[in-house]
Amino acid sequence: MYGPTWGASAPAKVILLGEHAVVFGKPAVSVAIGLRLRCRIRLAAVPSLNGIQLGPQNYSYVSACLAKRNAPPTAVLTDSDFPSGSGLGSSAAVTVALLAALAASTGSFKEDVVAREAFEVECDVQGRASPIDTSTCTHGKGILVSRERESSLLWEMSKDTRRWCVHDLPVPKMTLVVGFTGKSKPTGPLVAKVKRYVDHSTFARDMVDEIGEVTMEGVRHMSKGDLEGLGRMMTKDHKLLAILGVSTRELDKLVSSVLPYSYGAKLTGAGGGGSMVALTDRPEEVVDIIRRKGGQPFTAETGVPGVKID
Ligand code: PMV
Repeated sequence: MYGPTWGASAPAKVILLGEHAVVFGKPAVSVAIGLRLRCRIRLAAVPSLNGIQLGPQNYSYVSACLAKRNAPPTAVLTDSDFPSGSGLGSSAAVTVALLAALAASTGSFKEDVVAREAFEVECDVQGRASPIDTSTCTHGKGILVSRERESSLLWEMSKDTRRWCVHDLPVPKMTLVVGFTGKSKPTGPLVAKVKRYVDHSTFARDMVDEIGEVTMEGVRHMSKGDLEGLGRMMTKDHKLLAILGVSTRELDKLVSSVLPYSYGAKLTGAGGGGSMVALTDRPEEVVDIIRRKGGQPFTAETGVPGVKID
């Protein structure tokens, strides 16, 4: 790259409890993990991502970030430790890292502003979203999104009638193993599918309410360091998400095969493919089983920082 450049990086995330229900204003818990996406920018004659010119049909998150900050034509380079569409928040990480690099280029980087702008970009591009992914990629560590304000509040976000209070959540020492199915999935259509179901069925609305209750019970176990209790809630959450129609045969297979070696396991993120996560104290066995069942396993480090200006 010629001329001055600015860079930032953001972590991947794993949702431990509450995905999909959080879009309806229910609570959710997620943690940043030790895989990062790095982004570097410089001024250019035409806007591009990794050498490919931006157009109306491609790289909508990148175009939306440039528009959000009224940026001049910018060349963006990214490089990531984790695949896109894996359910680990690649769109949130690219959005957060790019908005942070753009803010750094004008000397105006602030964590809460990046979190807010990133949430707005996700809503614009996806149609519907909650602030959990973008807040986790921004703040790092652990995040609790809930309706009520607690003393650990980081920021509040709202969209139409929905409101989310985003909190810092202490993460106990724990081992997570992620299994990627190898199938990428776009989040927007899955979120829209759940909305259609919820709009037309009281049963689906009850499932969303129950995910909210399971999540809060999981938070209580987590705050006491009770990994067995937290794992039980994760497995219960997986069953509810499957009823909502966002699991797949591959995800169910990976989840059920690791359960004998785990405190709990579930799909993580939007589902429809993507990844599952197991909470375990037997990571080697879980990694081995995921590999034998055709998934791509990795052990996820937690307690990692959020967005960083590089
Ligand atoms: O895009 P993913 O797979 O990281 O998952 C997003 C989580 C959802 O709850 C499904 C959507 C949202 O915006 O909260």
